Amino acid sequence: MQNKRILVTGAAGFIGSNICFALQEKGYDVLGLDNFSVGEKGNLKGFDGKIIDADIRNFDWASEKVNAIIHEAAITDTTVKDREMMLEVNTEAFKRLVEHCLQHNIHLVYASSAAVYGRGKVPMKEEQEKDILSHYAESKYEMDKFSQGKFAEFENKKLKLVGLRYFNVYGPREASKMKTGMASMAWQLYRQMKQGQRPRVFKHGEQTRDQVYVKDVVQATLKALEAKENGVYNVGSGKETSFNRIIEELNKQLGTRLEPEYIENPYAHYQPATLADISNTQKFLGYEPGYDIAKGIADYVQFLRRNNL
Ligand SMILES: NC(=O)c1ccc[n+]([C@@H]2O[C@H](COP(=O)([O-])OP(=O)(O)OC[C@H]3O[C@@H](n4cnc5c(N)ncnc54)[C@H](O)[C@@H]3O)[C@@H](O)[C@H]2O)c1
Repeated sequence: MQNKRILVTGAAGFIGSNICFALQEKGYDVLGLDNFSVGEKGNLKGFDGKIIDADIRNFDWASEKVNAIIHEAAITDTTVKDREMMLEVNTEAFKRLVEHCLQHNIHLVYASSAAVYGRGKVPMKEEQEKDILSHYAESKYEMDKFSQGKFAEFENKKLKLVGLRYFNVYGPREASKMKTGMASMAWQLYRQMKQGQRPRVFKHGEQTRDQVYVKDVVQATLKALEAKENGVYNVGSGKETSFNRIIEELNKQLGTRLEPEYIENPYAHYQPATLADISNTQKFLGYEPGYDIAKGIADYVQFLRRNNL
């Protein structure tokens, strides 16, 4: 098996923890690193690998010998106003990690974000003009640009360097993100409806997002370790889902008939729609989404029920 020993950063977070479990199931030797600023130990309950409590800004990467690193750690609160901190954690720490991987022959897959497209036209293609609306989006785009300058060097050493622009991810182990209010709409609407409240969405719930189930995100991330070509790829479902549709699927799964309550949208520049063009991801990673919104919500609600959430 290639890439036997893999380090996952952001391991105690939403996506990182799901990646840790998937790798563990496949028999990899997995190490998880997190500073627990947002992620929680509870997300790693049942994970047998080593857990490193450390900060990506000053961790000595050479202290652990690994074949590959999956880099998920980041400030994920997209509303953070401290630009310097955002760039230091998300971009600068990443640049040092890239150099380390190149020097020590380590494959690197990292989380970028669909935030780089802002209110751009849909379907969103990797090469289209970017619309940077936050420091978060800037920090991710800077990661992508830095990587683009390094693809050839990685290629020369037969190493992978792959960035993944995740769209709106939902699924198991995201509750810890409520600390920053960044959990998915699926989770927030589920919580309201579970308590018998009408689900609240901005008028009139017809805004669409590419909602991608975390199991598909994990699939794409693991496939990136075997990418045919280094690059930056979209990771979405390839489908648009309105907020009303999420509510419809939740009603089905919960056996309720709760009508949405439409509230005023205070944001002048709210994205009307996001949608991933996933043709490159299909071609170069062999990625195929397995969960449309109906299947994803059904699987998610089953998980939440099993865990009394
Ligand atoms: N969830 C989504 O919809 C989505 C969409 C696009 C991109 N992403 C990206 O995917 C990655 C994972 O996001 P997530 O949704 O799991 O969020 P998350 O907040 O649950 O995970 C991020 C983890 O990184 C850790 N972390 C933060 N700063 C750190 C530091 N300095 N040192 C070490 N650890 C640190 C946090 O404690 C947390 O556990 C992030 O890079 C995020 O930008 C997520």
